[in-house]
Amino acid sequence: MMTSTFSIPAHVAIIMDGNGRWASARSLPRFEGHREGVHAVRRTAEAAIRLGIQTLTLYAFSSDNWKRPKTEVRALLLLLRHYLLTEIEECRRKGIRLSVIGRRDRLPGDLIPLIESAEGETAPGSRLHLRLAVDYSSRDAILNASRNARTREEFTHALGPDVDLLIRTAGEQRLSDFLLWECAYAEMVFLPLSWPDFGEQSLREALAAYGRRVRKFGGLAAVTGEALEYAPS
Ligand code: IPE
Ligand code: IPE
Ligand code: MG
Repeated sequence: MMTSTFSIPAHVAIIMDGNGRWASARSLPRFEGHREGVHAVRRTAEAAIRLGIQTLTLYAFSSDNWKRPKTEVRALLLLLRHYLLTEIEECRRKGIRLSVIGRRDRLPGDLIPLIESAEGETAPGSRLHLRLAVDYSSRDAILNASRNARTREEFTHALGPDVDLLIRTAGEQRLSDFLLWECAYAEMVFLPLSWPDFGEQSLREALAAYGRRVRKFGGLAAVTGEALEYAPS
């Protein structure tokens, strides 16, 4: 087994992109790409546990994805429904705590109790916190948080933990309204492969790239091990 010598990011977030292109390249309907993408979700969650990642946030459906043709939106929501129905027992068994972030009021009525029971049944899971972003817009999440939260700590509490590593597949290099606040100091890794081809190997590759980055958070690289004592007066 390969061991890692680099630090493991606590929170990894992934923009799972390229399902449509994966299918088109094989002369298949876009839906087949999304279906294949679900297998990649399972592989990635399992690999995340093995690698010691604590929180994995996956962008499954953005608030802007409602703009897509009705048939594709319906297919994506059916896949989510199917995932919740079939994977919950597996998640429970593997110690995965599942949460869904994003708006719920526009989702089909039958999905909401499914999401609630998935969250309830997997709540004790402590090996991985798997967060699925569904009807998610980071701008909306920030606006909502700002209605109640006043300090950075309260924002963080309302929105969730800072992202350490942000991965996007399929070669695109943009955030598409995903975790804008939480990615303030995230390291970003863009991979050329499509989401259905993603798996443990690609995750390891992204972690290796992350391990080569120097995270400074506005300070200086800790080469000498000296503590930085300067503070603005
Ligand atoms: C990502 O794949 C999945 C969702 C956005 C739901 P896409 O459907 O965006 O695939 P491309 O970008 O068209 O290839
Ligand atoms: C972002 O991908 C949304 C998800 C991965 C769920 P898109 O494919 O929708 O983003 P754009 O339109 O290329 O920016
Ligand atoms: Mg896309």
